[in-house]
Amino acid sequence: MKKLWGGRFSKNTDKLVEDFHSSISFDKRLYYWDVKGSIAHARMLADTGVISQEEAQLIIKGLNEILKEIEEGEVEFDLSAEDIHMNIEILLTKKIGDTGKKLHTGRSRNDQVALDTRLYLRAEIDTIQDLLKELLKTLLDLAEKHLDTVMPGYTHLQRAQPVTLAHHLMAYFQMFSRDKERLEDCRKRVNISPLGSGALAGTTFPLNREQVASELGFSGITMNSIDGVSDRDYIIEFMSCASIMMMHLSRFCEELIFWSSQEVEFIDMDDAYSTGSSIMPQKKNPDVAELVRGKTGRVYGNLMAMLTVMKGLPLAYNKDMQEDKEGLFDTVDTLKKCLLVFSPMLATMKVNKEKMLNASKGGFTNATDLADYLVKKGLPFRDAHEVVGKLVAYCLSSSKSLDDLSIKELQGFSPLIEEDVYQEISVYTCVEKRNIPGGPAAEQVRIAIEEGKKRIETL
Ligand code: ARG
Repeated sequence: MKKLWGGRFSKNTDKLVEDFHSSISFDKRLYYWDVKGSIAHARMLADTGVISQEEAQLIIKGLNEILKEIEEGEVEFDLSAEDIHMNIEILLTKKIGDTGKKLHTGRSRNDQVALDTRLYLRAEIDTIQDLLKELLKTLLDLAEKHLDTVMPGYTHLQRAQPVTLAHHLMAYFQMFSRDKERLEDCRKRVNISPLGSGALAGTTFPLNREQVASELGFSGITMNSIDGVSDRDYIIEFMSCASIMMMHLSRFCEELIFWSSQEVEFIDMDDAYSTGSSIMPQKKNPDVAELVRGKTGRVYGNLMAMLTVMKGLPLAYNKDMQEDKEGLFDTVDTLKKCLLVFSPMLATMKVNKEKMLNASKGGFTNATDLADYLVKKGLPFRDAHEVVGKLVAYCLSSSKSLDDLSIKELQGFSPLIEEDVYQEISVYTCVEKRNIPGGPAAEQVRIAIEEGKKRIETL
């Protein structure tokens, strides 16, 4: 087929090159936005008198028909037409004749492709935001049910101090709500129209850039034509947001996998969100959580690839930038799939409160509280730390927990210890006494949940 840019060429493109540089196999997903962008462009060309209103109407009618045909699966894209932009232009000209050739007036594929990816990404961000909202709601629901479910909090994956499952889940609520805010902020920079930047130096036609921008729902226009076609920081920023989100999901998955291990048994994943083994009949594996953790790697990889593609490019457009799309699409697809499966997986897991409680009683998670108890009785904290350290060593040698010790045994380590100690070092007291803003006491977590509910309404 004759190329749209074939005028100055005397030879056909080599077949290998045609296959190598064509992007239609993946950028065809942009067809909807490409058509929408072209319709806005055509309408503006007529409104500014560059083409006639009749011509614009003909172009718009043709584009709408093409959109419908693509959606009905009637269109076969042509590899030799390179990309989605030229495929649609060729289809248009076939359909309406020479008027189709006027559509590209004052426009370049360079500003067109930036427009399309911005429109695509804006819509995908909105879908991702809805999925994030679902996840936040799931976390709030679960937290509400587990305000009194005591579990060990860890540092170094060693039992540290008792917390509640609600408090632990609300930590993730905070992370994901920051992710949501970050993405909303990223959206502001995605939602700017580059159309009118031309190839790199704008255009001699009196285009009304604001008209196109407002018709397409953009909040403004790019302020430099070179920048408008040559940066991909809006994609990189989105990929960074996605990477941070995947990092949070992956950490959470790691915990869910640990919690469902037979060594811990804090949770039991629903059968619908687990899979078995082809050889070991007894197995039930937390594959969904493992896969989300695994897919984090490709999302990071896409970000690294894009940063590397861009790092040495002179201004303005370079064909290297065509490499932005597959990684972007893969990031969007992966993130959406992970979020989609994650919320119901969480919502359906069974929590083994008994196991969590018992684990929180082991491992001396109340040792800090015993030290604090001694401080309140007048001992300096460093000395209290020493006394309790010795008590822990004693317990370890006699396979006991601090609560198991008789008052006599306790007093052997410090005469300040009295009968009230048992009440003071029960795991329930340990949690309830941490009644400080941001702390695990049910009263505080309830406040966090209420704030969370308000926050998702505004997010
Ligand atoms: N398919 C190209 C891309 O994705 C469109 C822009 C092509 N521009 C050019 N000057 N070759 O980047």
